[in-house]
Formats: sequence, C-alpha cells, structure tokens
Amino acid sequence: MEGMERGLKRLYLARPRGFCAGVVMAIQTVERWAEALKPQGELVVYHEIVHNRAVVERLRAKGVHFVEDLSEIDSLRREKPLAGTLVFSAHGHPPAVRRQAAEMGLNILDATCPLVTKVHIEARRYAQEGYWILLVGDSADHQEVKGTYGEAPERTILVAVHTHVGKDPRLADPHTVEVLDPERVVVLTQTTLSVEDTLKTIEILKARFPKLVVPRRKDLCYATQNRQEAVRRIAPHVDLFLVLTSPHSSNGMRLLELAQSLTGRAYRLESARDLQEEWLQGAESAGITSAASTPEDLVQELVELLRAKYPGLEVIEEGEEEDIAFREPRVLSPAEVLQG
Ligand code: F3S
Repeated sequence: MEGMERGLKRLYLARPRGFCAGVVMAIQTVERWAEALKPQGELVVYHEIVHNRAVVERLRAKGVHFVEDLSEIDSLRREKPLAGTLVFSAHGHPPAVRRQAAEMGLNILDATCPLVTKVHIEARRYAQEGYWILLVGDSADHQEVKGTYGEAPERTILVAVHTHVGKDPRLADPHTVEVLDPERVVVLTQTTLSVEDTLKTIEILKARFPKLVVPRRKDLCYATQNRQEAVRRIAPHVDLFLVLTSPHSSNGMRLLELAQSLTGRAYRLESARDLQEEWLQGAESAGITSAASTPEDLVQELVELLRAKYPGLEVIEEGEEEDIAFREPRVLSPAEVLQG
C-alpha cells in the first residue's frame, strides 16, 4: 500500500458481526418483561445482561437494575417497588446463586445462552461420573467461567488458554496442571475463546493426559467461530481493523487479538467517539467487526463517520449471514427452581 495516494478508500464490514442469537434472546427477554411487569415494579438482572455498556445503559433508562450480588436487592427494595422477578444474564451463573434467588422468593427468568447451558450440563454429568474437569478459560473473573465452575467446584480446575498463561494466577498452566486421577480427566471450555488457541491448548492437555476426554460437541459457540472466521477472511484485504467491543466482552477481545495478529494494526472502540485520526494514517482500507454484544447501530454510526471523513469511501460487506435464533425463557416460580 505504500506510495499510493493517502486516505481511506475501502471499508470492509465483517459478516457476521455483532449480536448473536444468545444476546438477542437475552435482551428481548429483559425488554419484554421490564415492560410487562411495570405495573408490579422494576426488573432486576443478575450481572450485566450482556457485556456492552450501551446495551446496559439503554436498559437502565427503561428502569432495569443490574446487581452483582443478590444482597443488593434488599437495599434496592427499600428505594423502589421491584417486580419480584430476577433475570439471569446470557453468560450463565453458578447454581448456588440460582438457589439463593429462589430462597429469597424471587421468580426467575433464566436468559443463559443455551450454548452455555450445554457446557453446564456437561460439567454436571462428568462430575457425577467421577471425572476431573479441566475448564479452559481466559479469566477466573469472567461470569461464564464462574457459572460453569460453580456446577462442580470440587472437581474443576481452571486452566489458562496457552497464550494467556501467567495473566491470571488462578488459572493453571496447561503444560504443568495436575489432577488427582490422570486416567479420568475431561476438558471443557468457555464458549467465547480463540478457536486456534483453544485447539492448541487442548493439544497440550492431550499430550499431558493421554486419556483426556474431549466432548464430541465442541464447547466454542457458533457465533465465536463465525465472527473469527469473518475477520480471517477480510484480513488479507485491509491495512487495519477497527473492533467495536467492550473490554469485558471475551469474544470481542478475542476478535481484537486475532485482528491484531493478522494485520498488526487493530484498535478497540466502544463507539465512533473513540476513533482517533492517527489510527487511519497511511491506510487505504480498513475492516470493521464487532463483538457478539455490540449493537449494530454503533457500527453504522462509525461507518457514517468514516463516510463523512472520506467522501467516495467504498463500503463492502464480506462474508456469510447467520440464521440462528433461540427461544426466550419462561418465568419460573421459586418452587420450580428449588425442585430443580
Ligand atoms: Fe451464546 Fe456464543 Fe452468543 S455462547 S451468548 S451464542 S457468543
């Protein structure tokens, strides 16, 4: 690209990007029930419904509350009428929190993504069968990791993706992790990791535990895989990537890392306001992608800003459409939750 006329000429929009089926289902659940339960009071969500500030702020403006600890609900109740219904976020939650909520007499709307629930079911099953679970993740603080770990904490060991070793001391190194019975070990993973790094980490674990069980249905979700594939497809055509993601979005941060490794120039934004002029210096083409929790209007806002800055900018949509939808959950009474 060197020596050519300066200024952005082509903008590639990765497809798919943005909202996945789990995020759509979770947001619709909150919107629908915040409205339906209004006469009774306001809706409370355990943890950010999805990891995106704009989404959370828009829901807050509709009277939705987000708590990180169920004890916060009592103080909220003293300030305003609550609907008595708690929504669980798309990332999943430990079963102990679910029980606690039911014991508090709350109705439950479980908006956990079904692809996360699948991993929870695997964790329960393998723990019951006496396996040691190696749960590969990128941070012990991620809500999804906490939730899956909570299914069988006494039999689960958190393991770092091989590229993240040392970043979080609570995650074991796959090269050196120990289990009490190396003959009965299974590997499960967070759903939103790097495809390549996860496969490599599983390889390392297989070399260490030859009898390692790898569930036939891989844990990485379709949305994570498709968004990474779309970035790979565009990368040869672009000088740099703009990645719209919150720093707390695991799948979004993996897109940023992938884009950086493929082009050497990837920048994170939460909205068009974060764009910095110098990022585009000398570039003729740029790619845009967004995390599974980033609303499309934030992408379009960035596209419009770039169109205004670079008249004649060609905008190219590249990749495949997705056609997946998940059903919204129904309200469960405390008794239903406690009966399991
Ligand atoms: Fe589910 Fe994957 Fe989205 S686990 S919430 S489909 S990023």
